[in-house]
Amino acid sequence: MIPHRQGDGPGRIVVPVALEGRAYDIHIGRHLLCEAVARLGALAPGARAAIVTDAHVAALHAPALEACLQQVGVAATRITIAPGEGSKSYAGLIELCEALLAAKIERNDLVIALGGGVVGDLAGFAAAVLRRGVRLVQIPTSLLAQVDSSVGGKTGINSPHGKNLIGAFHQPVLVIADTSLLDTLSAREFRAGYAEVVKYGLIDDAGFFDWCESNWRRIIDGGPERDHAVAVACRAKAAIVARDEREEGDRALLNLGHTFAHALERLTGYDSTRLVHGEAVAIGLALAFRFSQKLGLCPGQDAVRVARHLDAVGLPSTLRQAPGGTGTADEIVAAMAQDKKVRRGVLTFILARGIGRSFIAHGVAADEVRAFLEEELAAG
Ligand code: GLY
Repeated sequence: MIPHRQGDGPGRIVVPVALEGRAYDIHIGRHLLCEAVARLGALAPGARAAIVTDAHVAALHAPALEACLQQVGVAATRITIAPGEGSKSYAGLIELCEALLAAKIERNDLVIALGGGVVGDLAGFAAAVLRRGVRLVQIPTSLLAQVDSSVGGKTGINSPHGKNLIGAFHQPVLVIADTSLLDTLSAREFRAGYAEVVKYGLIDDAGFFDWCESNWRRIIDGGPERDHAVAVACRAKAAIVARDEREEGDRALLNLGHTFAHALERLTGYDSTRLVHGEAVAIGLALAFRFSQKLGLCPGQDAVRVARHLDAVGLPSTLRQAPGGTGTADEIVAAMAQDKKVRRGVLTFILARGIGRSFIAHGVAADEVRAFLEEELAAG
Protein backbone atom coordinates (compact mmCIF):
# COMPACT_ATOMS: atom_id res chain seq x y z
CA MET A 1 0.00 0.00 0.00
CA ILE A 2 0.92 3.67 -0.11
CA PRO A 3 3.95 4.45 2.11
CA HIS A 4 3.44 7.25 4.65
CA ARG A 5 6.03 9.60 6.10
CA GLN A 6 6.47 8.45 9.68
CA GLY A 7 6.18 10.96 12.54
CA ASP A 8 8.07 10.90 15.82
CA GLY A 9 6.25 8.25 17.83
CA PRO A 10 5.59 4.63 16.95
CA GLY A 11 2.99 4.36 14.20
CA ARG A 12 2.83 8.14 13.75
CA ILE A 13 2.02 9.39 10.26
CA VAL A 14 2.57 12.92 8.99
CA VAL A 15 0.78 14.08 5.84
CA PRO A 16 1.96 17.47 4.54
CA VAL A 17 -0.41 19.88 2.81
CA ALA A 18 1.84 21.71 0.35
CA LEU A 19 0.30 25.16 -0.01
CA GLU A 20 2.76 27.89 -0.92
CA GLY A 21 3.35 30.10 2.12
CA ARG A 22 0.66 28.30 4.13
CA ALA A 23 1.95 24.71 4.22
CA TYR A 24 0.91 22.64 7.22
CA ASP A 25 1.05 19.08 8.49
CA ILE A 26 -1.62 16.61 9.46
CA HIS A 27 -0.45 14.39 12.33
CA ILE A 28 -2.22 11.03 12.42
CA GLY A 29 -2.01 8.26 15.01
CA ARG A 30 -3.42 6.86 18.23
CA HIS A 31 -2.83 8.79 21.46
CA LEU A 32 -0.69 11.49 19.85
CA LEU A 33 -2.63 14.47 21.20
CA CYS A 34 -0.04 15.72 23.69
CA GLU A 35 3.03 15.17 21.51
CA ALA A 36 1.35 16.94 18.58
CA VAL A 37 0.12 19.80 20.78
CA ALA A 38 3.72 20.24 21.96
CA ARG A 39 4.48 21.57 18.44
CA LEU A 40 2.35 24.62 19.17
CA GLY A 41 5.05 25.99 21.45
CA ALA A 42 7.37 26.34 18.41
CA LEU A 43 4.62 27.16 15.91
CA ALA A 44 3.12 29.99 17.96
CA PRO A 45 5.52 31.04 20.72
CA GLY A 46 3.79 32.97 23.49
CA ALA A 47 0.33 32.50 22.00
CA ARG A 48 -2.81 32.05 24.05
CA ALA A 49 -5.49 29.65 22.85
CA ALA A 50 -9.25 29.44 22.75
CA ILE A 51 -10.55 25.89 22.57
CA VAL A 52 -13.85 25.87 20.71
CA THR A 53 -15.77 22.70 21.33
CA ASP A 54 -19.33 21.46 21.83
CA ALA A 55 -20.90 20.32 25.07
CA HIS A 56 -20.74 16.66 24.09
CA VAL A 57 -17.07 16.63 22.96
CA ALA A 58 -16.02 18.90 25.84
CA ALA A 59 -17.06 16.29 28.39
CA LEU A 60 -15.07 13.59 26.58
CA HIS A 61 -11.88 15.29 25.40
CA ALA A 62 -11.46 18.91 26.55
CA PRO A 63 -9.76 18.16 29.93
CA ALA A 64 -7.09 16.03 28.17
CA LEU A 65 -6.41 18.80 25.65
CA GLU A 66 -6.24 21.43 28.39
CA ALA A 67 -3.70 19.29 30.27
CA CYS A 68 -1.57 18.96 27.09
CA LEU A 69 -1.68 22.74 26.55
CA GLN A 70 -0.76 23.39 30.17
CA GLN A 71 2.29 21.11 29.82
CA VAL A 72 3.63 23.31 27.01
CA GLY A 73 2.72 26.54 28.75
CA VAL A 74 -0.13 27.63 26.46
CA ALA A 75 -2.87 29.40 28.43
CA ALA A 76 -6.28 28.27 27.18
CA THR A 77 -9.89 29.39 27.51
CA ARG A 78 -12.66 26.93 26.71
CA ILE A 79 -15.67 28.09 24.68
CA THR A 80 -18.48 25.57 24.46
CA ILE A 81 -21.17 25.72 21.77
CA ALA A 82 -24.39 23.72 21.49
CA PRO A 83 -23.90 20.43 19.62
CA GLY A 84 -25.53 20.07 16.21
CA GLU A 85 -25.84 21.75 12.84
CA GLY A 86 -28.00 24.51 14.37
CA SER A 87 -24.84 26.16 15.75
CA LYS A 88 -23.56 26.77 12.20
CA SER A 89 -25.78 29.85 11.94
CA TYR A 90 -25.44 33.65 11.87
CA ALA A 91 -26.45 33.69 15.54
CA GLY A 92 -23.91 30.97 16.37
CA LEU A 93 -21.15 32.90 14.58
CA ILE A 94 -21.93 36.16 16.41
CA GLU A 95 -22.00 34.39 19.75
CA LEU A 96 -18.68 32.66 19.10
CA CYS A 97 -16.92 35.81 17.82
CA GLU A 98 -18.09 37.75 20.87
CA ALA A 99 -16.85 34.96 23.17
CA LEU A 100 -13.45 34.94 21.41
CA LEU A 101 -13.18 38.72 21.79
CA ALA A 102 -14.23 38.47 25.44
CA ALA A 103 -11.46 35.86 25.88
CA LYS A 104 -9.05 38.49 24.43
CA ILE A 105 -7.93 36.31 21.54
CA GLU A 106 -5.62 38.46 19.43
CA ARG A 107 -4.03 38.23 15.98
CA ASN A 108 -1.11 36.10 17.18
CA ASP A 109 -3.21 33.74 19.27
CA LEU A 110 -4.77 30.42 18.34
CA VAL A 111 -8.30 29.20 17.83
CA ILE A 112 -8.35 25.44 18.42
CA ALA A 113 -11.37 23.62 16.97
CA LEU A 114 -11.93 20.47 19.05
CA GLY A 115 -14.85 18.56 17.62
CA GLY A 116 -16.56 17.29 14.50
CA GLY A 117 -17.48 19.06 11.29
CA VAL A 118 -19.83 21.60 12.89
CA VAL A 119 -17.23 22.79 15.40
CA GLY A 120 -14.48 22.85 12.76
CA ASP A 121 -16.53 24.77 10.20
CA LEU A 122 -17.88 27.32 12.69
CA ALA A 123 -14.65 27.83 14.64
CA GLY A 124 -12.72 27.96 11.35
CA PHE A 125 -14.99 30.68 9.98
CA ALA A 126 -14.80 32.66 13.23
CA ALA A 127 -10.99 32.37 13.07
CA ALA A 128 -11.07 33.57 9.44
CA VAL A 129 -12.97 36.77 10.25
CA LEU A 130 -11.91 37.55 13.82
CA ARG A 131 -9.46 40.47 13.69
CA ARG A 132 -9.24 39.70 9.91
CA GLY A 133 -7.73 36.29 10.56
CA VAL A 134 -6.43 34.36 13.55
CA ARG A 135 -4.44 31.13 13.39
CA LEU A 136 -6.52 27.97 13.45
CA VAL A 137 -5.66 24.49 14.73
CA GLN A 138 -8.01 21.65 13.86
CA ILE A 139 -8.33 18.72 16.29
CA PRO A 140 -11.07 16.67 14.65
CA THR A 141 -12.92 14.19 16.87
CA SER A 142 -15.18 12.55 14.29
CA LEU A 143 -14.08 10.27 11.46
CA LEU A 144 -15.75 12.58 8.96
CA ALA A 145 -13.82 15.57 10.27
CA GLN A 146 -10.51 13.65 10.34
CA VAL A 147 -10.76 12.57 6.70
CA ASP A 148 -12.53 15.57 5.21
CA SER A 149 -13.69 18.75 6.89
CA SER A 150 -10.64 19.53 9.06
CA VAL A 151 -8.33 19.49 6.03
CA GLY A 152 -8.32 21.99 3.18
CA GLY A 153 -9.51 25.24 4.73
CA LYS A 154 -13.21 25.27 3.90
CA THR A 155 -15.02 27.00 6.76
CA GLY A 156 -18.52 28.40 7.04
CA ILE A 157 -22.04 28.47 8.32
CA ASN A 158 -25.45 27.65 6.86
CA SER A 159 -28.05 30.11 5.57
CA PRO A 160 -31.81 29.52 5.43
CA HIS A 161 -31.07 29.25 1.67
CA GLY A 162 -28.77 26.26 2.06
CA LYS A 163 -25.80 24.57 3.65
CA ASN A 164 -22.33 26.19 3.85
CA LEU A 165 -23.44 29.15 1.70
CA ILE A 166 -21.63 31.71 3.91
CA GLY A 167 -17.96 31.03 4.48
CA ALA A 168 -14.30 31.54 3.73
CA PHE A 169 -11.19 29.58 2.85
CA HIS A 170 -8.99 29.67 5.95
CA GLN A 171 -6.28 27.03 6.19
CA PRO A 172 -5.30 25.66 9.60
CA VAL A 173 -1.69 25.85 10.76
CA LEU A 174 -1.85 22.28 12.10
CA VAL A 175 -4.28 19.35 12.04
CA ILE A 176 -4.07 16.73 14.78
CA ALA A 177 -5.98 13.56 13.95
CA ASP A 178 -5.67 11.43 17.09
CA THR A 179 -7.47 8.31 15.92
CA SER A 180 -8.02 7.09 19.51
CA LEU A 181 -10.49 9.98 19.96
CA LEU A 182 -12.79 8.13 17.53
CA ASP A 183 -13.23 5.27 20.04
CA THR A 184 -16.01 7.23 21.78
CA LEU A 185 -18.13 7.67 18.62
CA SER A 186 -21.44 5.86 18.34
CA ALA A 187 -21.59 3.09 15.73
CA ARG A 188 -23.94 5.28 13.66
CA GLU A 189 -21.59 8.27 13.66
CA PHE A 190 -18.54 6.15 12.87
CA ARG A 191 -20.25 4.42 9.94
CA ALA A 192 -21.44 7.77 8.61
CA GLY A 193 -17.85 9.06 8.59
CA TYR A 194 -16.78 5.90 6.82
CA ALA A 195 -18.78 6.99 3.75
CA GLU A 196 -16.29 9.85 3.36
CA VAL A 197 -13.38 7.39 3.65
CA VAL A 198 -14.63 5.09 0.93
CA LYS A 199 -15.35 8.13 -1.26
CA TYR A 200 -11.60 8.56 -1.87
CA GLY A 201 -11.39 5.05 -3.37
CA LEU A 202 -14.37 5.78 -5.59
CA ILE A 203 -12.92 9.08 -6.82
CA ASP A 204 -9.58 7.90 -8.17
CA ASP A 205 -8.11 5.02 -6.18
CA ALA A 206 -9.69 1.68 -7.09
CA GLY A 207 -6.94 -0.14 -5.12
CA PHE A 208 -8.00 1.68 -1.95
CA PHE A 209 -11.63 0.71 -2.58
CA ASP A 210 -10.54 -2.96 -2.87
CA TRP A 211 -8.59 -2.56 0.39
CA CYS A 212 -11.63 -1.00 2.12
CA GLU A 213 -13.81 -3.93 1.05
CA SER A 214 -11.41 -6.28 2.89
CA ASN A 215 -10.48 -4.08 5.87
CA TRP A 216 -13.52 -2.02 6.87
CA ARG A 217 -14.13 -4.03 10.05
CA ARG A 218 -10.57 -3.38 11.23
CA ILE A 219 -10.99 0.34 10.50
CA ILE A 220 -13.99 0.34 12.84
CA ASP A 221 -12.13 -1.74 15.46
CA GLY A 222 -9.33 0.85 15.65
CA GLY A 223 -6.25 -1.11 14.63
CA PRO A 224 -3.45 0.26 12.40
CA GLU A 225 -5.90 -0.07 9.50
CA ARG A 226 -7.84 2.89 10.93
CA ASP A 227 -4.73 5.09 10.90
CA HIS A 228 -3.89 3.88 7.41
CA ALA A 229 -7.40 4.70 6.13
CA VAL A 230 -7.30 8.20 7.67
CA ALA A 231 -3.84 8.75 6.20
CA VAL A 232 -4.82 7.61 2.69
CA ALA A 233 -7.86 9.89 2.80
CA CYS A 234 -5.85 12.88 4.11
CA ARG A 235 -3.09 12.29 1.58
CA ALA A 236 -5.62 12.21 -1.26
CA LYS A 237 -7.33 15.35 0.00
CA ALA A 238 -4.03 17.14 0.59
CA ALA A 239 -2.99 16.44 -3.02
CA ILE A 240 -6.25 17.82 -4.41
CA VAL A 241 -6.20 20.90 -2.14
CA ALA A 242 -2.56 21.63 -3.06
CA ARG A 243 -3.42 21.79 -6.77
CA ASP A 244 -6.85 23.43 -6.50
CA GLU A 245 -7.34 25.16 -3.15
CA ARG A 246 -10.30 27.29 -4.28
CA GLU A 247 -12.25 24.58 -6.12
CA GLU A 248 -11.77 25.98 -9.59
CA GLY A 249 -11.27 22.49 -10.98
CA ASP A 250 -10.33 19.12 -9.49
CA ARG A 251 -11.36 19.88 -5.92
CA ALA A 252 -14.98 19.48 -7.03
CA LEU A 253 -14.27 15.73 -7.27
CA LEU A 254 -14.46 15.68 -3.46
CA ASN A 255 -18.15 16.44 -3.90
CA LEU A 256 -18.82 12.96 -5.27
CA GLY A 257 -22.27 12.02 -3.94
CA HIS A 258 -22.73 15.42 -2.31
CA THR A 259 -25.22 17.04 -4.71
CA PHE A 260 -27.71 14.30 -3.86
CA ALA A 261 -26.62 14.29 -0.20
CA HIS A 262 -27.07 18.03 0.35
CA ALA A 263 -30.55 17.90 -1.20
CA LEU A 264 -31.56 15.08 1.17
CA GLU A 265 -30.15 16.96 4.16
CA ARG A 266 -32.02 20.10 3.12
CA LEU A 267 -35.27 18.12 2.89
CA THR A 268 -34.73 16.77 6.41
CA GLY A 269 -34.05 20.26 7.80
CA TYR A 270 -30.32 19.51 8.41
CA ASP A 271 -31.51 17.55 11.43
CA SER A 272 -28.75 15.01 12.13
CA THR A 273 -31.02 13.03 14.41
CA ARG A 274 -33.01 12.22 11.24
CA LEU A 275 -30.18 11.97 8.71
CA VAL A 276 -26.46 12.13 9.49
CA HIS A 277 -24.36 13.88 6.79
CA GLY A 278 -22.36 10.71 6.08
CA GLU A 279 -25.54 8.67 5.64
CA ALA A 280 -26.70 11.20 3.07
CA VAL A 281 -23.27 10.92 1.39
CA ALA A 282 -23.55 7.11 1.33
CA ILE A 283 -26.88 7.35 -0.49
CA GLY A 284 -25.39 10.04 -2.74
CA LEU A 285 -22.41 7.82 -3.65
CA ALA A 286 -24.66 4.91 -4.59
CA LEU A 287 -26.95 7.25 -6.56
CA ALA A 288 -24.00 8.84 -8.39
CA PHE A 289 -22.85 5.41 -9.56
CA ARG A 290 -26.35 4.22 -10.55
CA PHE A 291 -27.02 7.53 -12.33
CA SER A 292 -23.69 7.11 -14.17
CA GLN A 293 -24.78 3.58 -15.10
CA LYS A 294 -28.15 4.88 -16.37
CA LEU A 295 -26.32 7.44 -18.52
CA GLY A 296 -24.29 4.58 -20.05
CA LEU A 297 -21.04 5.78 -18.48
CA CYS A 298 -20.35 3.20 -15.77
CA PRO A 299 -20.51 -0.61 -15.84
CA GLY A 300 -23.51 -1.91 -13.86
CA GLN A 301 -21.26 -4.28 -11.91
CA ASP A 302 -19.35 -1.32 -10.44
CA ALA A 303 -22.58 0.40 -9.33
CA VAL A 304 -23.70 -2.88 -7.72
CA ARG A 305 -20.34 -3.29 -6.00
CA VAL A 306 -20.51 0.20 -4.48
CA ALA A 307 -24.01 -0.38 -3.11
CA ARG A 308 -23.06 -3.85 -1.85
CA HIS A 309 -20.11 -2.46 0.11
CA LEU A 310 -22.21 0.33 1.68
CA ASP A 311 -24.87 -2.26 2.59
CA ALA A 312 -22.22 -4.53 4.18
CA VAL A 313 -20.99 -1.67 6.36
CA GLY A 314 -24.57 -0.88 7.40
CA LEU A 315 -24.92 2.37 5.47
CA PRO A 316 -28.01 3.27 3.41
CA SER A 317 -27.58 3.00 -0.36
CA THR A 318 -31.07 3.81 -1.68
CA LEU A 319 -33.50 6.70 -1.28
CA ARG A 320 -35.97 4.35 0.34
CA GLN A 321 -33.42 3.55 3.06
CA ALA A 322 -32.88 7.23 3.90
CA PRO A 323 -33.38 7.32 7.70
CA GLY A 324 -35.17 10.69 7.63
CA GLY A 325 -37.31 9.90 4.56
CA THR A 326 -37.12 11.82 1.27
CA GLY A 327 -39.35 14.11 -0.71
CA THR A 328 -40.59 13.50 -4.24
CA ALA A 329 -38.23 13.59 -7.23
CA ASP A 330 -39.39 17.17 -7.91
CA GLU A 331 -38.64 18.20 -4.34
CA ILE A 332 -35.18 16.65 -4.45
CA VAL A 333 -34.35 18.44 -7.72
CA ALA A 334 -35.72 21.72 -6.30
CA ALA A 335 -33.57 21.22 -3.17
CA MET A 336 -30.52 20.87 -5.44
CA ALA A 337 -31.19 24.32 -6.89
CA GLN A 338 -29.56 26.10 -3.92
CA ASP A 339 -26.45 23.97 -4.05
CA LYS A 340 -23.23 25.76 -4.96
CA LYS A 341 -22.76 23.15 -7.71
CA VAL A 342 -25.85 24.45 -9.55
CA ARG A 343 -25.45 27.36 -11.97
CA ARG A 344 -28.48 28.92 -13.65
CA GLY A 345 -30.53 25.74 -13.40
CA VAL A 346 -27.90 23.51 -15.02
CA LEU A 347 -26.43 20.88 -12.73
CA THR A 348 -22.81 19.96 -12.27
CA PHE A 349 -22.46 16.41 -11.04
CA ILE A 350 -19.55 14.21 -10.18
CA LEU A 351 -20.15 11.08 -12.23
CA ALA A 352 -18.07 7.93 -12.70
CA ARG A 353 -16.83 5.78 -15.55
CA GLY A 354 -16.15 3.09 -12.95
CA ILE A 355 -14.77 2.63 -9.45
CA GLY A 356 -11.81 5.03 -9.10
CA ARG A 357 -12.74 6.82 -12.34
CA SER A 358 -14.85 9.79 -11.27
CA PHE A 359 -15.04 12.99 -13.28
CA ILE A 360 -16.75 16.37 -13.26
CA ALA A 361 -19.78 16.47 -15.56
CA HIS A 362 -21.09 19.95 -16.39
CA GLY A 363 -24.47 20.65 -17.92
CA VAL A 364 -26.42 17.64 -16.64
CA ALA A 365 -30.09 18.20 -17.52
CA ALA A 366 -32.43 18.51 -14.53
CA ASP A 367 -35.02 16.41 -16.43
CA GLU A 368 -32.61 13.48 -16.62
CA VAL A 369 -31.92 13.74 -12.88
CA ARG A 370 -35.67 13.91 -12.14
CA ALA A 371 -36.41 10.85 -14.29
CA PHE A 372 -33.62 8.91 -12.58
CA LEU A 373 -34.89 9.89 -9.11
CA GLU A 374 -38.44 8.85 -10.03
CA GLU A 375 -37.10 5.40 -10.99
CA GLU A 376 -35.12 5.20 -7.75
CA LEU A 377 -38.13 6.15 -5.63
CA ALA A 378 -40.31 3.61 -7.44
CA ALA A 379 -37.72 0.83 -7.02
CA GLY A 380 -38.36 -1.67 -4.21
N1 GLY B 1 -15.47 18.65 1.61
C1 GLY B 1 -15.09 18.97 0.29
C2 GLY B 1 -13.92 19.89 0.21
O1 GLY B 1 -13.26 20.13 1.20
O2 GLY B 1 -13.65 20.40 -0.85
